[in-house]
Amino acid sequence: MPIKACVFDAYGTLFDVAAAAREAAAEPGREAFAAVWPKVATDWRLKQLQYTWLRAVAGAHTDFWEVTQNGLDWALEASGLYGDAELRERLLALYFELSAYPEVPAMLAGLKHAGFATAILSNGEPKMLDGAVRSAGIGADLDAVLSVEDVGVFKPHPSVYEMVGQRFGTAPAEVLFVSSNGWDAAHAAGFGFVSVWANRAGEPVDRLPWRPAHILDDLTTIPDIAKAI
Ligand code: LAC
Repeated sequence: MPIKACVFDAYGTLFDVAAAAREAAAEPGREAFAAVWPKVATDWRLKQLQYTWLRAVAGAHTDFWEVTQNGLDWALEASGLYGDAELRERLLALYFELSAYPEVPAMLAGLKHAGFATAILSNGEPKMLDGAVRSAGIGADLDAVLSVEDVGVFKPHPSVYEMVGQRFGTAPAEVLFVSSNGWDAAHAAGFGFVSVWANRAGEPVDRLPWRPAHILDDLTTIPDIAKAI
């Protein structure tokens, strides 16, 4: 079945989630943070995601901005920086305006030029996603920005992946779904999407019952893959 829509996870896939900590660490006067920023960035992301899974399983939804702050607080405390209110505010402000990975604008323009529908499907709450899309300047090449807030549960709940068919009228096999999160790419494959794992970090494949159809280093070749199906 040919692909009709190309759908992207947001954080870590289109937007560089480590950019907030990396940029803050480079600012003058942040020597203590500069010494530990990679650990803070890793802990922040891991806790943020763990909290989404736990809240989904427990039926205790809150929005992604809340779990992003909860994850950051855990990460700062683990590195002895909890209580630095100015640093916390700076990191959150930078997270709201994350940069896109360098290949993203041309890749999305290539998809639109080839006639595919394009969308984000993300845990992000709408204001966060709007802030990131605006600061990355990619809004003109996106037909939809779909947030889990419309179904009130985080990925990988199937009702999140169902939002794509509801928006575009597509069967799952007509959707190319792209995520840099191995678990998201796996569950999307289980849902029936043609799934692409952008394995930016060179990690082992997740041991889950489903495997992505394609594994890439970055998003450069997504238009070629979509056209070839
Ligand atoms: C998202 C997270 C999982 O954008 O990266 O949905």
